[in-house]
Amino acid sequence: MAITDFERYPLTFGPSPVHELKRLSDRLGGAQVWAKREDVNSGLAFGGNKTRKLEYIVPDILASGADTLVSIGGYQSNHTRQVAAVAAHLGLKSRLVQERWVDWDDPVNDKVGNIELSRIMGADVHLDSAGFDIGIRSSWENAIAEVEAAGGKPYPIPAGASEHRFGALGFVNWAYEVAAQEKDLGVFFDTIVVCTVTGSTHAGMIAGFAALEAAGGPKRKVIGIDASATLDKPRAQARRIADHAADLIGLGREITDDEVDIRPGWEGPAYGIPDESTVNAIRTTAELEGVILDPVYEGKSMAGLLDLVGQPGGGGRAGGGGQGAIAKDSTVLYAHLGGQLALNAYSSIF
Ligand SMILES: Cc1ncc(COP(=O)(O)O)c(C=O)c1O
Repeated sequence: MAITDFERYPLTFGPSPVHELKRLSDRLGGAQVWAKREDVNSGLAFGGNKTRKLEYIVPDILASGADTLVSIGGYQSNHTRQVAAVAAHLGLKSRLVQERWVDWDDPVNDKVGNIELSRIMGADVHLDSAGFDIGIRSSWENAIAEVEAAGGKPYPIPAGASEHRFGALGFVNWAYEVAAQEKDLGVFFDTIVVCTVTGSTHAGMIAGFAALEAAGGPKRKVIGIDASATLDKPRAQARRIADHAADLIGLGREITDDEVDIRPGWEGPAYGIPDESTVNAIRTTAELEGVILDPVYEGKSMAGLLDLVGQPGGGGRAGGGGQGAIAKDSTVLYAHLGGQLALNAYSSIF
């Protein structure tokens, strides 16, 4: 099957915008940097990468006859906020497990931003004291059982929608969208930089670009920047999901190890905790471009990009190593996956 054979329920405005980050590129003095903006991809509660993933999951939700979406994330999960929005949009209920994934001492961490929006949209939000883990959790399995016991029909959506069998298809399609936008814009992105945690965003891109390449398209690099601080887990998970996606779309080969390129160095001390490089990346992108990034995900992937693109002695900031590793004649696409609502719980940094 090709990606176009899978049913897609529209939740986004259409192709997400692609534009140059000119002042940032000039400052770095290396490759040309562009952005593709999943943070403005939808009118449903500010959208983001999960909204795009859910477009390929909604047909299965509707076919199942479920009345309640059951999902899980941290207190400031962007994913659960997008699940709540999609549930509201479809006229369904949502039951959300929000774990204490981040040891972040802010009195409004479990009240503002993403979690506030989920509550406004009518989600049944349950806080849980468990810490960070991208795997399958018993709290989520219990929530599914509780919905059932109360006579409801749950539809389980795992963390980040990643371990769902269609979880990577949204970003397989993203690769095709990029190829079409390149034609319109007369540009070629040889390198993509993306934040990786639960893995299906990155995995979908890997499978999608591999399929384009197999059809005669150009070769390119997709560089994942780890924001989990548990590097082995996203590496294994992205690998598994990319293989599954490749199988679904009939790639006809396994994904190779070197295609799953997830780099450490900018993850900070833990998931959800920014370091100096994260804060520098957020300030630099905001001051030069008016583009806002969050301290959990996108600030970390941008910190990676600044180092990889920034020339030694130029405007890039050393920290995670690899300064200037992306060649000067490259054209880089930064995948902005959303997430700004979490900034509400991080006001003390700024
Ligand atoms: C804003 C943002 N960026 C990046 C990611 C990472 O995506 P994934 O979990 O698919 O690796 C997430 C979700 O986890 C996110 O909400």
